[in-house]
Amino acid sequence: MHQSILITGANGQLGTVLTESLQLKYGVENVIASDLREKASYTGIFEYLDVTDSDRLEEVILKYNVKEIYHLAAILSANGERNPLNTWEINMRALLNVLEASRKNNVEKVFHPSSIAVFGESAPPINTPNNSLLDPLTSYGLSKAAGENWGKYYFYKYGLDVRSLRYPGLIGYQSRPGGGTTDYAVEIYHKAVAGESFTCFLDRETTLPMMYIDDAVRATLELMEAPRENIKVRTSYNIAGISFSPAQVAASIKEKYPDFEIEYAPDHRQEIADQWPKSIQDLEAMRDWSWKPQFNLPKITEVMIDNLEREHEHFI
Ligand code: NAD
Ligand code: SER
Repeated sequence: MHQSILITGANGQLGTVLTESLQLKYGVENVIASDLREKASYTGIFEYLDVTDSDRLEEVILKYNVKEIYHLAAILSANGERNPLNTWEINMRALLNVLEASRKNNVEKVFHPSSIAVFGESAPPINTPNNSLLDPLTSYGLSKAAGENWGKYYFYKYGLDVRSLRYPGLIGYQSRPGGGTTDYAVEIYHKAVAGESFTCFLDRETTLPMMYIDDAVRATLELMEAPRENIKVRTSYNIAGISFSPAQVAASIKEKYPDFEIEYAPDHRQEIADQWPKSIQDLEAMRDWSWKPQFNLPKITEVMIDNLEREHEHFI
C-alpha cells in the first residue's frame, strides 16, 4: 500500500519551508501537510489536524498509511510564557500523542524539534556542549527538555526511530516567525526592505545562536536520512549555525542600506534570551551524520534582502 509522510504544524515558519522540501524530495502525492490553521502557500495534500486530538491524529495516520512523521506543532518560547501551564499541556500532549499513535500504528520514524531553549543557567553559555545539564526557565524549554527524554524513552522501550535537533533561532524570507524570542532577526529584514526603522525587543549586545532556514531544513533531512545505527544521540542533537547580536545584524544590513535605523527597547523577551547560550557546540552532529552549516551572517543578509526586495517590488 502507498506510504506517506505526515507533517504537523506545517503552516508555521519552519513547516511551510520544510513541507516544500519534503514534497520536492519524496513527491507531492506522498506528503501530508497538517495544521490547525488554514493552509499556507504550498500546494499539495492538506488535512486540518489539532495534534492534541489523538483520535483525529490516528485517523489521519491510517487514512494515508503514514510511515514517517515530522512533528513541528508547538507553542514557542515568548508566546508560551503568557500561559505557561497551557503551553506545557499543549506541547506535551501533542508530542505524547504523536509518539503513542506512531507506536500503535506502525509509523517507522518520528522527527520532533527541540531548541536552544532547553538550556538554562547551569549550561556553559559559550560553545554549549550537547550533554550539558538542562535546567530551562521557560515553560517552552521545560516541554522541549522533557520531550527529548520522552523521544529517547520510545526509542529504547519500543524501538520507535525517534530523532531530534535542537534548532537555534531560525531566519528565512519565506515565512514569518510564530512567537519566539529570536523573531527579531526576521522582522529586522522586513523593516529594512520596507524602508522603515526597527525597534528591537532585545538589547543591542544580546548574542544568540541563529541559523538560516535552508541550513535547518537540510540538517533535518540529513538527520532523517542517516542510517539508524549512526544516530547515537537519542535525546536531541545540538546544531550550530552562527551567533550574532542585534547590533551585528543591523551593521550587516547597513552595508546595503546605510540609512537603516535601529533602536532598542528590551521587553519581557530579554529575560528569556539572557537564559540561553550565546553559541553552541555541535561535535556529535558533525561526528554522527556529518553536519556542516553553509550560511554565515553576510550570506544570510544578502539572501534575505534579495528575496524580500523581490517580494516588495511585486506588491508595489
Ligand atoms: P510556528 O509557531 O511558526 O508554527 C507552529 C505551527 O504549529 C503553527 O502553524 C500552529 O498553527 C501549529 N500548531 C500549534 N498548535 C497546534 C496543534 N495543537 N495542532 C496542530 N498544529 C498546531 O513555529 P515554527 O517556528 O515553525 O517551529 C516549528 C517547530 O520548530 C516547533 O516545534 C518549534 O519549537 C521548533 N523550533 C523552532 C525554532 C525557530 O526559531 N523557529 C527554533 C527552535 C525550535
Ligand atoms: N526560536 C525559538 C524561540 O525563540 C527557539 O526555540 O522560541
